[in-house]
Amino acid sequence: MNVRITGTGSALPGKILTNAELEQLVDTSDEWITTRTGIKERRIAAEGEYTSTFAAEAARRAMTMAGALPEEIDLIIVATVTPDFPFPSTACIVQDLLGASNATAFDLSAACSGFIYGLSIAEKYLRSGSARKILVIGSEILSRVVDWKDRNTCVLFGDGAGAVVLEGSEGDHSLLSTHTFSNGTHWNLLYQPGSGSRNPATDPRTIAEGRIYLTMEGNDVFKHAVRAMGEAAEAALAANSLSAADIGLLIPHQANQRIVDATSKRLGLGSDRVFTNLDRYGNTSSASIPIALDEANRQGVLKPGCKLMMVAFGGGFTYGSALVNW
Ligand code: UT7
Repeated sequence: MNVRITGTGSALPGKILTNAELEQLVDTSDEWITTRTGIKERRIAAEGEYTSTFAAEAARRAMTMAGALPEEIDLIIVATVTPDFPFPSTACIVQDLLGASNATAFDLSAACSGFIYGLSIAEKYLRSGSARKILVIGSEILSRVVDWKDRNTCVLFGDGAGAVVLEGSEGDHSLLSTHTFSNGTHWNLLYQPGSGSRNPATDPRTIAEGRIYLTMEGNDVFKHAVRAMGEAAEAALAANSLSAADIGLLIPHQANQRIVDATSKRLGLGSDRVFTNLDRYGNTSSASIPIALDEANRQGVLKPGCKLMMVAFGGGFTYGSALVNW
């Protein structure tokens, strides 16, 4: 049984936060943010908008494209590090919002690699015949875990969601492989110290000492990201006896234009074969690849038979790749 992406969707908050507005919040400049990251603006969720809000909307759009009814969905995986609640899972809330009453639903925590991990799990369910239609969603509201006084991190992240419907298929237009990797020795280079069992939200020091916020050793993460994304992409090529010349389009995790450029260079890909939208959305963690995938798909950038490489890296560390014959 092959596995095919039959629908893509994305949903983003309406509110745009520009670099010029950030200049009013912290000691930064449009020039620094643009040259060091490539980001010009990001979307910020409004009061009353939650991770499940955008997840459900992105899923609806993907289901409409796939022609999938809510009751046909067997499994809902929501990759997120910013769930609505510690429990129940955001996936169960999305199930309720969609009316997907026959689905099993759970969240997946793999930071910025969450969508690739989700594809990998969905692939196994479909190939084994354990499910027929699956929603894999990446959705984040990172604006609620960043410290808006910390210029090292607050300029980087944004909110939004992307989703795909995956189905079993007999055809060639299918997911060729997924590869996932973890390196837990560096878990503390990118993480949110507060609100779990180590620094519970119930301990007043968690807020008072700023442990609630996402923290990152940007420079170290940068170096690991370039190496790991290259490795993950090469693992996909080797497993399919392909070379970089066969890649029609690369959709990398959208964290930093310089990481994207270094990864494309390592693979020998020109910018015409790399899709980016981080200038408009910043780093949306698990949502970044599915949002970009939906935009590339709707813009007609992906032609049938195009070999699509998706590659991610994130906190954990986690990393991975997915190769698709579109
Ligand atoms: O999504 C998961 C993976 N995450 C990533 O892949 C992110 C990886 N890391 C990065 O993208 C980059 O490391 C950053 C964009 C976070 C930082 O860029 P960098 O070139 O590594 O800068 P840096 O951290 O080495 O900082 C250089 C200087 C520092 O000043 P000093 O100490 O040299 O005087 C920072 O304080 O830039 C300063 N700086 C800023 N200046 C203006 C840091 N942030 C800002 C800012 N505006 N927003």
